[in-house]
Amino acid sequence: MFNFKYQNTTKLIFGKDKIKELSQEIPINSRILVLYGGGSIKKNGVYDSVKETLKDYTIFEFGGIEANPGYETLMKAVEIVKKEKIDFLLAVGGGSVLDGTKFVAIAPFSEGDPWDFLTGKASPQKALPIGSIMTLPATGSESNSGAVITRYETKDKLFFISNLVFPRFAILEPEITYSLPQNQTINGIVDAFVHIMEQYLTFNVNSPVQDGFSETLLKTLIDSAPKILKNPKDYDTRANIMFSATLALNGLIGIGVPQDWTTHMIGHEITARHGLDHAITLAIILPAVMKIRRKQKREKLIQYAKNVWNIQENNEEKLIDLVIEKTENFFQSLGIKTYLSDYNIKENDINEILKKLEEHGMTALGENKDITIDISKEILKTALSK
Ligand code: NZQ
Ligand code: ZN
Repeated sequence: MFNFKYQNTTKLIFGKDKIKELSQEIPINSRILVLYGGGSIKKNGVYDSVKETLKDYTIFEFGGIEANPGYETLMKAVEIVKKEKIDFLLAVGGGSVLDGTKFVAIAPFSEGDPWDFLTGKASPQKALPIGSIMTLPATGSESNSGAVITRYETKDKLFFISNLVFPRFAILEPEITYSLPQNQTINGIVDAFVHIMEQYLTFNVNSPVQDGFSETLLKTLIDSAPKILKNPKDYDTRANIMFSATLALNGLIGIGVPQDWTTHMIGHEITARHGLDHAITLAIILPAVMKIRRKQKREKLIQYAKNVWNIQENNEEKLIDLVIEKTENFFQSLGIKTYLSDYNIKENDINEILKKLEEHGMTALGENKDITIDISKEILKTALSK
C-alpha cells in the first residue's frame, strides 16, 4: 500500500427529516446565500422546507445553476455574494449545484480572473463556508474537495481541488431522491460506479481493505439498480445508493492505492464538446478503457470478475472478455447506449476531442501515467461502435 494522509471534514447528516436540523449547523447571525438549480427543489418540497427551517436567518437566493455548471452563470452569484456581504453558502441540489457553489465560495477571493483556479494558474487561498443538501446521489461532491466547472464560450470543462471547499456538512435525505427522473437516478448510479472503478481497476498494491470496500460498493450498486427501477420509493434501496455514492468519492476508497481517472478526463471533453450527460460519457468510455488496457489491468480485471460479478471461468482471457461484456451489459440494462455512434459522434469528431485533451494537459493519463494522446485515440476509436 502507498503512504497516505487522509482527512475528510464533512459532517454527514443522513436519514429522514434531516433538513429540520439545518439551523443547528449554521450560525444564527449568518448572511446565507441559498444556491439551487433549475427548480426541482420547488417541485419536491425541499425549497419550502429549507425556507421554513431558516426563517430566522437573513437569506438570499440564487437559482438557475445549470447541469454542468457554467462559469458565466456562477459569476452572477459571485456578484450577489459581494454585494450582499454573504458569509455562508448553502447548496441545495445535485452535483452541479454543489460544484457551482464551491466555485462561488472561492471566486470572491480571487486576485485575477477566478477561471485561473480551473486552469491551475492560481490556487484558492480562502473560501466561504459551504453547507449542502444533496438531492442526487452521484458525484460525491457533498463530501469531497473537488468541483467541475464548464466555460461554455470556449467549451472547456475543467476541475479544481481544494481542501477549503469541503462542505461543512452534507444533509442526505434518501426520500428527497424519490422525485428524481429515472434517467437521473440511473446517471447517479453509473457515475458512482465509475468513480469506484477509477480507484479500483488499476494494479495490485496488496490493499485488501480498499479493494474489499470498493467491491462491496460496486455490488451494492449492481444489486440496487434494478430494484430502484422497479420500485422508486424503496427507502432502503435509495438509502443504500445514496451512501454508496458518497463513499465512492469522499476520498476513502482511494487512499493508499493507485488511481486512474482516464475515463473521467476523456468523458469531460465529450460533455464539453457534445453535451452528453456526464454519466453517459463514462458508460461509453469505461468499457473501451477496459478493452485497450486489458494487459496493464489484467490482475485487477480478473479480481473484479471473480469478486464483483462472481464469474466462474478458468480461462483467464475468456474471463476478462466476459467481465467487460458484463460491465457493458449492466449499463445497457439501465437503458444507456454505450457507443459514441449511438449519439451521432463520428470518427472525425475524435480529433477535436483529442485536441482539447492535449490543450488541457491530459497527455499522460492512467495509473501509470502512460496513456498518451495516441492511446486516448485508440480508446475513443474503440468506443465508436461495437
Ligand atoms: O437543476 P434542477 O432543477 O435541480 O434538476 C436537476 C438536474 O436537472 C435534477 N435533480 C437533482 N436532484 C433532483 C433532481 N430532480 C428531481 N428530484 C431531485 N431530487 O437532476 C438534473 C441533473 O443534476 P446535476 O446536478 O447536473 O447532476 P449530477 O449530480 O450528476 O452532477 C453532474 C455534475 O457533477 C460533475 C459532473 O461533471 C457534472 O458537471 N462531477 C463532479 C464531481 C465532483 N465534484 O467530485 C465528480 C464527478 O465525476 C463529476 O465530474
Ligand atoms: Zn463522475
